[in-house]
Amino acid sequence: MKALVLAGGAGSRLRPITHTSAKQLVPVANKPVLFYGLEAIRDAGIREVGIVVGDTAAEIQRAVGDGSAFGLEVTYLRQDAPRGLSHAVLIAREYLGDDDFVMYLGDNFIVGGITGLIERFRRERPQALIMLTKVSDPREFGVAELDAAGRVVALEEKPARPKSDMALVGVYLFTPAVHDVVAGLKPSWRGELEITDAVQGMIDAGHRVESTVISGYWKDTGNVTDMLEVNRLVLESVEHSVEGDVDEASELIGRVVVEAGATVAGSRIVGPVVVGAGSVVRDSYVGPFTSVDRDCSVIDSEIEYSIVLRGASIDGVGRIERSLIGREAEVTPAPRVPKAHRLVLGDHSKVQISK
Ligand code: G1P
Repeated sequence: MKALVLAGGAGSRLRPITHTSAKQLVPVANKPVLFYGLEAIRDAGIREVGIVVGDTAAEIQRAVGDGSAFGLEVTYLRQDAPRGLSHAVLIAREYLGDDDFVMYLGDNFIVGGITGLIERFRRERPQALIMLTKVSDPREFGVAELDAAGRVVALEEKPARPKSDMALVGVYLFTPAVHDVVAGLKPSWRGELEITDAVQGMIDAGHRVESTVISGYWKDTGNVTDMLEVNRLVLESVEHSVEGDVDEASELIGRVVVEAGATVAGSRIVGPVVVGAGSVVRDSYVGPFTSVDRDCSVIDSEIEYSIVLRGASIDGVGRIERSLIGREAEVTPAPRVPKAHRLVLGDHSKVQISK
């Protein structure tokens, strides 16, 4: 069995965080979301992984390399333009050969991995096995229509009027039976070869398509509340580890990770919290469910239940909660007079100011 990991995409849905980098590299608890997927694939016993890359190929290759750091053998497959998930299967035809494969969308996060799913596939051997999950806005996803017995009867890509709230999760298991269907697909209304159409085609051709419903699922739809929540879920399972410098005046409570090269001085940190390499936390409070990425500084401030991305600095601003601070962002106090907020906000930013 092989894996086909999709790490292309146009990044057309510009979110605050994906403006400047590949969406598969958005960090969850300081680690790119793509890495969790690769680890889940390895943990399921798969070694050979084809990664489909597009415009952000260089960035993805720099992050993943030849895959040996993950215990994987990675082959990069170049997609000339974002022509859809089924198009990715099409261009991977030769790589995949006659093997079964798991297709894994690199911007998806599955709590608990995919080992159970793959075991079920191997045991029951349907022609395809898909994962479904309840979502609040199905219009952002492929949506499954189920019959009374819970069997998938139809699939629709990003429907304006969804027939259910069950979305297709970005992990699909296929036997080589998918290739004939993919070869006959036509582009959808959005000009892409859709994977939903491939699965629908398999159902129509009488192939056995099974589904399973999962709960711990996340993808970056630009929803910060969800991103903070998945960050919390991952931090729930970090182990206490202090490799950086923590001075006498500081107090670490609960499970706190201070990576090598990070400095904590005169501060109180209540875990679970991760402080990335090269970051400085001084005269501050860092509260539960906060991830501070590499090379950040948190000075004379309080922060809780938040994500701070690489190179950001927060200095002398009192308390911050439930926030996502982007790469290299700077948060500082405004001059005392006039009493006014001074903002330089990137496109699609969202700010809530307490009055
Ligand atoms: C793709 C699929 C969609 C699925 C989603 C999950 O959408 O087409 O059916 O629900 O991934 O991440 P895309 O991210 O390409 O818009």
